[in-house]
Amino acid sequence: MTASAQAPAPRRDWQRSVVYQIYPRSFCDSNGDGIGDLKGITSRLDHLQQLGVDVVWLSPVYSSPQDDNGYDISDYRAIAPEFGSMADFEEMLAAMHARGIRLMMDLVVNHSSDEHAWFQEARKSRDNPCHDYYIWREPGPDGAPPNNWEAAFQGSVWAWNEATGEYYLHMFSPRQPDLNWENPRVRQEVHALMRFWLDKGVDGFRMDVINMISKPWRADSSLPDAPAVREGFLQPGFALSCNGPRLLEFLAEMRREVLDHYDTITVGEAPMATTRQGVQITNPQSGALDMLFQFEHMDLDSQPGHPDGKWALKPLDLREFKATMSRWQDALAGQGWNSLYLSNHDQPRPVSRFGDDGAYRVASAKMLATCLHLLQGTPYVYQGEELGMTNVRFESIDDYRDIETLNRYRVAVHERGQDPAQVMAAIHAKSRDNARTPMHWSAGPNAGFTGGRPWIALNPNFHELNAEQALADPDSVFHYYRRLIALRHAHPVIVHGRYDLLLPGHTEIYAYTRSLAHEHLLVVCNFSAQTPRFALPPELQASERRLLIANYPVDAGEDLRSLSLRPYEARAYLLN
Ligand code: NOJ
Repeated sequence: MTASAQAPAPRRDWQRSVVYQIYPRSFCDSNGDGIGDLKGITSRLDHLQQLGVDVVWLSPVYSSPQDDNGYDISDYRAIAPEFGSMADFEEMLAAMHARGIRLMMDLVVNHSSDEHAWFQEARKSRDNPCHDYYIWREPGPDGAPPNNWEAAFQGSVWAWNEATGEYYLHMFSPRQPDLNWENPRVRQEVHALMRFWLDKGVDGFRMDVINMISKPWRADSSLPDAPAVREGFLQPGFALSCNGPRLLEFLAEMRREVLDHYDTITVGEAPMATTRQGVQITNPQSGALDMLFQFEHMDLDSQPGHPDGKWALKPLDLREFKATMSRWQDALAGQGWNSLYLSNHDQPRPVSRFGDDGAYRVASAKMLATCLHLLQGTPYVYQGEELGMTNVRFESIDDYRDIETLNRYRVAVHERGQDPAQVMAAIHAKSRDNARTPMHWSAGPNAGFTGGRPWIALNPNFHELNAEQALADPDSVFHYYRRLIALRHAHPVIVHGRYDLLLPGHTEIYAYTRSLAHEHLLVVCNFSAQTPRFALPPELQASERRLLIANYPVDAGEDLRSLSLRPYEARAYLLN
C-alpha cells in the first residue's frame, strides 16, 4: 500500500473486528535465546487463525535498550536484534495478510529512548538542532528539580543533564525522555516514521499514551507543584500531564498528514480520559482515531486518591464496574467508538482479578469473556487470555523483571519503610509481570515457549493449562472465545445494538440487553461464586428466545422468569 493524494473511502471494519495483542517477548521464541521473536510469532499464526481474530496489535519490536521492554525506542525504523530482522518482520506481515489478519504496530511517540539519536544530540548543547525535540527546564535556585512530580516508574519526572545544566522531563523512566510535540519538526518526524511503516504495508497503530503528547501546563509555561498527598515525598503528577489543549489539534494534523492517505485501523491509549474526550477523539466525523483505551474500569480495584496509586488495593464493587462500563457504552453510542478490554501487558490477568483462578477458573474466564465481548466496541484479547491464564505469585522480588514493579518494591520497602509482605501482596495482585510470563503452548519443557532459558520464569500451572490441551478440549476457554468471536462476526446486534443495563444495583449479576430493530440480545453474567436469582424483566418475558452461548449446560425449556444462576454462570439469548 502506498500513499496517494486521494483519500480511500473510510472503512468501519474495526467495528466488527476482534483484536489480539501479542507481547513479543513472551509469545514464542524460535532461536532458543529465551526471548520471544518475530519468527516465533510467524510460527504460531495458525493459533490466531483458529481463534478467528481479525487484527493483531503487536507491542513494540523496534530497536531499544529494553529499559521498559521496548516502550523505549532508540530507532523507530529498525527491528531489535533479539526480535529478529526486517526480513523476519516482512515475512511475518505477509503471513498475517495471507490469513486475512491485519497488523497494528505500537506507536510510542510521547517519548523516545535516551539512546535515540535525537536525544543523544539534544543533550549535547542548548544550541544543538535537536535540543528542542525534548522538554527542558532550568534547575530551581537550590539546584532542585523544577517541581515535585513523581514519575510513573518512581523518582522525579525531572532528570539532570550535566552538559546543558538543565533538567529534562520523563513521565516514565529517566531513559524515556518526553518528546516536545510543540516543536513542528518533532511532529513531522513522527509523521514520516508512520508513513515508513504504512508504506511497508502495516495496517495501523496502537498509540501509546497518546493523550500525553500535549501537556496542559505547556500552554502558559507554568509548572505547578502537584498537591501534597504524602508529606515529604514526591507527589503524583501524572494527571497534570494528560489531555493538554493542543491534543485534538495534533491528532487532527496526524490524521490529515498521514492517516487519511491510507486505509488504517487506529486505537489511542488515553489514561485519565473522560467520556467527553473519548467522543472528541473517536467521533467518526470529527475525531482523528477509530477508538481508544480508557482506564476508568481498571482503576476500580484501587483506593481512589491514595498516594500508592494502583498498589493500594480495594475489592471490586460490581455496581461501580457496571456503572463505569455503562457510562462509556452510553456516551459513545453513535458518537464515537470504544475498545473493550479487561487485559493487556500492563494489567493483571482478568480471571485472577475479576473472576476465580481456583475452582471456577474455566467458568469465570468464560463469564468475563461473555460479558466483555457482547458489549458495544471492539474486543481485545491479550495473549493467553484465550486460555484463561492466571496471575503468577513469585515468592521473591528477584524473580520479577518489570521496571515498574522493581522500582515500586525498592521505593516502598527501602525508601518509605513499608511492610515488605504487604508490598509483595500488592505486587502479586497488580504487577505487570502477571501478564508477561511466557505463553503456554504445551505441557512440554518451558511450556513450548523456548528451547533455552526463558527471560522470565513461567507460571508453573502450564502443565495443566496450555494451548495444546485447550485445543483438544471442546469445552475449553479457547473454544469458547472462538465461538464468541464468530458470534460478533455473524450478528449485527452485537456490533450495533443499543445497550441497556438491567439491575444496576445488583451486587453479583451484570445483565444487559443490546437491541437492534426487533432483535434483542440478553446477556446475564454472575460475577460471584454464589447462586443469585435472576428474573427476566416483564417487558422481555413474552419473547421467543434462542440461546446463543452459555458456559454451563442449559435446559432449553428453563423458565427465565426466575433463574438460579450457578457460580460464574454466563448466558446470552437472542429474543425476538
Ligand atoms: C503504556 C504502555 O502500555 C506501557 O507498557 C509503558 O510502560 C508506558 N505506556 C510507557 O510507554
